[in-house]
Amino acid sequence: MPSLTGKVVIVTGASSGIGEASARQFGREGAKVVLAARRAERLETVAQEIAALNTGAETLVIQADLSKLEDIQFVVNQTLSKFGRIDVLVNNAGFGRLDWLENLDPTKDIEAQLLVNVHGVIQTTRQVLPVMIKQKSGNIINMCSMAGLIGTPTYTIYAASKHAVHGFSEALRREVEPWGIHVSLIYPGGVATEFGQHAGIKRKTKATTPKFLLLTADDVGRAVVKLVQHPRAMWIIPWLWSLSALLNKLFPAFVDFTTIRGFTIPEREDELKAHA
Ligand SMILES: NC(=O)c1ccc[n+]([C@@H]2O[C@H](COP(=O)([O-])OP(=O)(O)OC[C@H]3O[C@@H](n4cnc5c(N)ncnc54)[C@H](OP(=O)(O)O)[C@@H]3O)[C@@H](O)[C@H]2O)c1
Repeated sequence: MPSLTGKVVIVTGASSGIGEASARQFGREGAKVVLAARRAERLETVAQEIAALNTGAETLVIQADLSKLEDIQFVVNQTLSKFGRIDVLVNNAGFGRLDWLENLDPTKDIEAQLLVNVHGVIQTTRQVLPVMIKQKSGNIINMCSMAGLIGTPTYTIYAASKHAVHGFSEALRREVEPWGIHVSLIYPGGVATEFGQHAGIKRKTKATTPKFLLLTADDVGRAVVKLVQHPRAMWIIPWLWSLSALLNKLFPAFVDFTTIRGFTIPEREDELKAHA
């Protein structure tokens, strides 16, 4: 595996879940890891755990709200002041508010989600790109989701945000490759993290990711590091989800039928009866 020792890696959303696991994995590789998120205490704990690995890894903790341009610029400037370059950017910070569209709050649920999941990814990349262009090298890993390939009920805004990340990354990949900059998209299925605690999910059917398909944050963290070592355009994990993406692309009417009959109608039964 190509060595990541001494590489400067920014991980956004490193205070929990996939970002935390990715940061730790880069720490195991002896990288210089910049940990950015709003919860500074959690970031400090992750930084201490990385130091305890004794791999020669260095850390820089930066408290930042990735929905704000000035905070994003601060992350990039602080990284350059301390380490002088940026080799890897992992755009991971994000969240989902999962409910019927009419129930989502226009500001807290819709605008806030788009600001972090879409603007945050675009603006962070925009700030880092001139550095990578000057270096003529770099890896950008964008955390997408199966929701970036398939739209499912209650995921309207989250799916819109991840479809945006998909389109943005595909176009960017084709812009920056001549500078030796690799842009990769990773599409995890369900991952056991704090994501669900912030999502406000209320389901009658208890529909959820089957246990055998549920990933750990470490599974995804390892995949993120592998994508830096062996860049590729996109990676769906677990691979079995590729079949549902294919089914959705080839037979959308079939997926509409099964999703509406199997999920939307049972979930909205009471509302449908009330409006009958
Ligand atoms: N869990 C899944 O099933 C799953 C599946 C596919 C893709 N994903 C994606 O994976 C990424 C990480 O999610 P996770 O599952 O690891 O959930 P998580 O444990 O809730 O982690 C989310 C991270 O994003 C950060 N974040 C959220 N809003 C932020 C803001 N305004 N500014 C800075 N940081 C912010 C959080 O940090 P602070 O709160 O400290 O700011 C936290 O570190 C997200 O992009 C998510 O869409 C998750």
